[in-house]
Amino acid sequence: MFVKNLAARSINAAARRAYSASAPSSAKVAVLGAAGGIGQPLSLLCKLSPEVSELSCYDIVGTPGVAADLSHIPTKSSTTGSLPSPVSWPLRGNGGLEETLSGADVVVIPAGVPRKPGMTRDDLFNTNASIVKTLVEGCAEFCPEAVIAIISNPVNSTVPIAAEVLKKAGKYNPKKLVGVTTLDVCRANTFVANSQGLDPKDVDVTVIGGHAGITILPLFSRVGAKFSDEELEAITVRTQFGGDEVVAAKAGAGSATLSMAYAGYIFTENVLKAMRGEGVVQCAFVESDLTDAEFFASPVRFGPNGVEEILPLGDLSPYEQQWFDKMMPELKKQIAKGKDFVSA
Ligand code: NAD
Ligand code: LMR
Repeated sequence: MFVKNLAARSINAAARRAYSASAPSSAKVAVLGAAGGIGQPLSLLCKLSPEVSELSCYDIVGTPGVAADLSHIPTKSSTTGSLPSPVSWPLRGNGGLEETLSGADVVVIPAGVPRKPGMTRDDLFNTNASIVKTLVEGCAEFCPEAVIAIISNPVNSTVPIAAEVLKKAGKYNPKKLVGVTTLDVCRANTFVANSQGLDPKDVDVTVIGGHAGITILPLFSRVGAKFSDEELEAITVRTQFGGDEVVAAKAGAGSATLSMAYAGYIFTENVLKAMRGEGVVQCAFVESDLTDAEFFASPVRFGPNGVEEILPLGDLSPYEQQWFDKMMPELKKQIAKGKDFVSA
């Protein structure tokens, strides 16, 4: 009954299998914010990934310990941990952002504060905007060719911040800057599978827009299931506000970390597979001309150089169109806020 859409599906499976069998990966992944609630399990999953040959963990606290701990796992990747000051594990050079980022193929950024109950993601702006700005300045200097994947909230603003920082440094490449919205896809898949009694691995929902409340728009009309109006409304709103559900359940102890680590790892592995020649399509928040918002999440084909193609949006159902119309002013406002932060 369910038709898988293009997300995360290989473009040419036979060619890919032949390629990946003969092409061992050698990719460096840097995780910035690696000692945090997302950063630690994300680093663990990256340490387990056959796609990663070097993992560098960076945070303002704790990364020498995180890296020493991870380094005892018998997988092929080397692991290092750095702090801003000259402390690293293992002891070498100066540590710091330069060593973390030099030679990185993908930089994943979950650095920044999480929400508490009652807060919106936008309430994190004042703290996280500066954190993201500083870290992306480091990327512009030490790894301008890397794909930068931003997890830190509010993603609808932090990605535009990163773009402006890179532009100022003369290093902006829209193919290499993405906001990670994979958790919204994970949630949509889970909620549909639960509601329809399906195995989640057989479901792949396209989620478009941004990553905050009503800017998250799951396109359930494409999954081939029959929902009552009430069911459709319930899983749409639950996907839009899935983050709030976790924030409330954690009762002041933060937001989603484990599911986000999983989502961040799937996203990163897909980017690395694409760099190695596999065709991968997955949803991501990227600079886009699909709509009149400068950045927009939609299915994107990744390739050796990051974003290869932004796939056409296709038709929305009347129900989705109504959410789309509500979303756009909000999304554009949050994008403008990010851009203004850097230009001010
Ligand atoms: P956390 O507080 O557990 O961890 C954040 C880490 O960032 C900490 O270890 C902290 O020391 C580090 N950090 C702070 N400033 C830094 C800097 N200047 N350089 C390097 N590291 C720095 O928070 P968390 O639960 O891991 O969440 C992190 C961010 O991810 C939050 O903004 C949260 O809202 C966001 N998030 C996004 C998604 C998504 O779908 N995109 C999902 C979940 C959480
Ligand atoms: C999420 O969707 O879980 C994250 O964006 C964290 C949050 O604040 O909800």
